[in-house]
Order: sequence, then C-alpha cells, then structure tokens
Amino acid sequence: MAGHPTENPGYNLTIVKAFALCAVVYLVVGALVGDIIAWQLSFPTLNLNEYLTFGRLRPLHTNAVIFAFGGCTLMATAFYVVQRTCAVPLWSNRMAWFTFWGWNLIIVSAVISFPMGWTQGKEYAELEWPIDILIAVVWLSYMFNFIMTIVNRKTSHIYVANWFFLGMMVMITYLHVVNSLAIPVTMTKSYSLFSGVHDAMIQWWWGHNAVGFFLTAGFLGIMYYFIPKQADLPIFSYRLSVLHFWALMFGYVWLGAHHLQYTALPDWAGSLGAAVSLAMIVPSWGGAVNGLMTLSGAWHKLRDDYVLRFLVVSLAFYAMSTFEGPVMSLKTVNALSHYTDWTIGHVHSGALGWVVMVSVGAIYHLVTRLWGREIYSVSLVNTHFWIHTIGTVIYVCAMWVSGIMQGLMWRATDDYGNLAYTFAETVVAMHPYYVLRSVGGLLVLFGALIMLYNVIMTIRTADQPKPAAVRV
Ligand code: HEM
Ligand code: HEM
Repeated sequence: MAGHPTENPGYNLTIVKAFALCAVVYLVVGALVGDIIAWQLSFPTLNLNEYLTFGRLRPLHTNAVIFAFGGCTLMATAFYVVQRTCAVPLWSNRMAWFTFWGWNLIIVSAVISFPMGWTQGKEYAELEWPIDILIAVVWLSYMFNFIMTIVNRKTSHIYVANWFFLGMMVMITYLHVVNSLAIPVTMTKSYSLFSGVHDAMIQWWWGHNAVGFFLTAGFLGIMYYFIPKQADLPIFSYRLSVLHFWALMFGYVWLGAHHLQYTALPDWAGSLGAAVSLAMIVPSWGGAVNGLMTLSGAWHKLRDDYVLRFLVVSLAFYAMSTFEGPVMSLKTVNALSHYTDWTIGHVHSGALGWVVMVSVGAIYHLVTRLWGREIYSVSLVNTHFWIHTIGTVIYVCAMWVSGIMQGLMWRATDDYGNLAYTFAETVVAMHPYYVLRSVGGLLVLFGALIMLYNVIMTIRTADQPKPAAVRV
C-alpha cells in the first residue's frame, strides 16, 4: 500500500474529509431520532403532533442511520481506499462533488418528506419516486467514479476491500431500481408496479440485501482495509478474503424469503431462504475470523490502541449477529421471534455493534490521517468506546428479554386453550425493557456527541506530538 496520504497531493482527500465529517454529524442525528422514538415507545404521550409521531419519525431514524450515516461512511472510505490502494487520484473530482451534494440533497428530502407523511410504505425504501430517481443517478455517479479510478490504477491487482465496495455498489443499484419500480400518481404518491405476494417478495429481496450489501458487504470493505492498516499487519489470509467475497455475493441474494415465513409466500421459498441463511454462517464467520486472526501475535496492541478496539469488537458483534440471524430464519424459531422485539435486538446488535463500531474505528483512523495530526483526546476516544459498548449491550439485552417474553406471552394458553394474556398485558410487561433500551440509546447518543466534539477539536487544534495509541 502507498505511504502516508498527505505525501501524495494528487489524491482528493477533501471529498473524503467532507463525507467523513457528514458521517459523524449524521450519526448524532440518527441516534438522536432513534432515542426519541425509543422514548416515544416507552411513554406514548411523547407523540407530540402529527408530524412528530412515532410512525413518521421511525423511517426518519432508519434512513438517517442507514443511508445518511452509513452512506456517508461508505462514500468516505471507498473514495479513500480506492485512491490509496490503486495509487491514483479519483477519476473525476467534479463527479465526486456531484455525488456529495446529490447525496446530501436526498438526505434533506428525507428530512422533509417523512414528517410530512410522504412515503411508499416499503421499509428502507420509503422515499417517493422523484427522490428514488435522484438516488439512482447519484449512486451511479459514485459507482462510475469508483470503477474508473480502478481502471486507471497503477497497481497490478485490485485489493480485496475494493471488491467488497464494488460488489455493494453493483448490487444496490440493481436492487434499488427493481424494488422502486412504481406508477406515479402525483409528485408525492405512487403505487408499486408489483402487487400482493410478489410485491412482498421483491420488497424483502431488497430489504434483506440492504442489510447484506449496504450494511454488510460495504462495511466488510472497510474492515479489510482498516484492520490491517491500523494493526500495521497484513490480512491473515488473502485467499480466505476472496472466498468470503464470492460466497457472500452469491449467498445473500437468496435470503429475502426468511422475512416472510408463515405468509402467503410458498412454503418452499421460505425453506430455501432458511437453508441459504444457515449456509451463510460459514462465509460470515470465515470473514470475522480472518479479521480477528490478522491480530494473531499482536493482541497486545489492543491494550492501548482504542481505534483497534472498536474494529475488533465490531467483528465480535458481526460474528454474533451472523449467527443469530440464521437461527432466527428457521421456521420454528421465527414463529416465536417474528413481530417481536427479538428482531429489534438482532437489528441493533448488527447495527450498533457491527456497523457503527467498524465505522467509528475507521473514521477515527481517517481523521488523524486526513488532517495530519493526532486525535485531540485519546481518553475521549476511550470514553466513547466504553460508553458505546455499554449502551449497545444494554439496548440489545433489553430487546432480547422483551422480545422473547413478548413471543412467549402471546402464545401462552391456559388449560382450556384460551390465551393466557391479553395484548395489553404484554405491553405492560415490556414497559421496563423499553425504558432500559431508551437509556442504552442515550448512552450511544452521548458517545456519538463525544466523538463529534473530539473530531472537531482535532481539526481545530494545532499539530501535537503523537501519542502511542494512534501512531501510524
Ligand atoms: C441511539 C441509538 C439508537 C436507538 C435508540 C435506536 C432506536 C430504535 C427504535 C426505538 C426503533 C424502532 C423499534 C420498533 O419499531 O419497535 C429502531 C428501529 C431500527 N433501527 Fe435503530 N436505534 C439506534 C441506532 C441505530 C443505528 C445506528 C442503526 C443502523 C446503523 C439502526 C437501525 C435501525 C433499523 C434498521 C430499524 C428497523 C428495525 C426493524 O424494522 O426491524 N438503529 N431503532
Ligand atoms: C448471515 C447473516 C444474517 C442472517 C441470515 C439474518 C437473518 C435475519 C432474520 C431471519 C431476520 C428476521 C426476519 C423476520 O422475522 O422478519 C432478520 C432481521 C433483520 N436483520 Fe438480520 N441476519 C443476518 C445478519 C444481519 C446483520 C449483520 C445485520 C445488520 C447489520 C442485520 C440486520 C437485520 C435487520 C435490519 C433486520 C430487520 C428487518 C425488518 O424486519 O425490518 N442482519 N435477519
């Protein structure tokens, strides 16, 4: 890999800085909205008016964290990694800025349209058709620039992180376009081209792959670059990373049906979804082990390198949620878990544990390299690490307990076969866990605010000597 990025003035690092800063700001916003809706679920009187109800703020939360925070992280890291590993500047700076402003325009449109109630009602694809077209155009500009930079490369081969980024870009284009096919009625209303069970299947083919490609493959690209870089060691097995890539690309597209067990979808489709889900444990764990084994012989680095801690703990959560997901896809387990908070627990162990931690590690790494100075406060990074980890564990455990209890109470019957609990009784039983989740979320939000402060102070502070924890 090339030397320190600031040694090469040809690289476009300004675009990386812009996306990285946006990612930190959107993490704060996404966590804030997430915590507001968590408190709304605990205390429904907090649904203040029609624009700020749970129903309208929930898609704002999911879109803010996945597409605003996650998207900006993926754009910052992909543009950085492709330049460094191909040893050439971005193919087009103008196109990169088009991607930046276009993506932010989409985010602003989401902030307006969700509180207004303009939605297609399809999860993670709620935005209405004019914005969907804009998403396709901006996303293509991101992909085209990335591909052309690879075409211009001065290195002999394409480093594996780029394969993961590229796989994510190609698949998201395809999934987004097909799932968004709709017949417009007005500027803010459209109807899906598909109907009934076909619509459901296409939606969850997209829905799971938003997870599989956007929230997993792209972030694995981050993992494959930033773990070796931060640890200053080569990846444990390059061969395994290539196997990981192809298995993930071929496997993930078959899983969507596990979201539709016990519905009008044919039974065999659900079974196929569950079978492939189970098989996905192998490549997922292969990838996690590959990342962790990169540190073999160098575990002592974790003692004082908090960036590496974020990256390593993210892999532990990745391994955990890619074990939990396949288990939940089994019909007998899904009969209990579906519609309950168990799913929400699974989602956030993947989101807060894997996605946020790997991103935060990569962004801390990036900030010191991009601005060419040490992080303002290592102890604040340390505080962020612990506060985020504790908040995530509280959130996820609260939802596991609440979800399993909810599922068991729904199906409990007395000796005569009557339901043992009314629905309202299950809601009352879940209340303490909802409050606990909101507190966990508050810790995560607090951690994100600490990160924002630390990043801003790093940028503002003059050059300082390098502490050991973040030495290049
Ligand atoms: C402070 C941190 C966060 C809090 C307090 C929080 C809270 C919530 C709440 C209350 C819900 C609605 C649950 C329900 O409908 O029962 C939710 C849904 C969701 N959140 Fe978060 N969240 C946080 C961070 C994140 C992050 C960082 C991500 C992704 C990177 C994320 C992704 C999602 C997704 C995908 C859903 C929809 C889950 C589903 O439909 O099954 N959240 N969140
Ligand atoms: C091999 C890996 C995985 C498999 C097989 C898997 C499987 C599943 C299953 C069976 C569900 C519940 C479906 C339902 O009952 O409706 C689910 C929900 C979900 N999972 Fe995973 N999961 C995996 C990894 C992950 C990871 C790493 C993340 C996060 C980054 C994640 C995010 C989600 C989200 C957001 C949902 C909720 C979707 C919704 O209902 O809105 N999953 N997953």
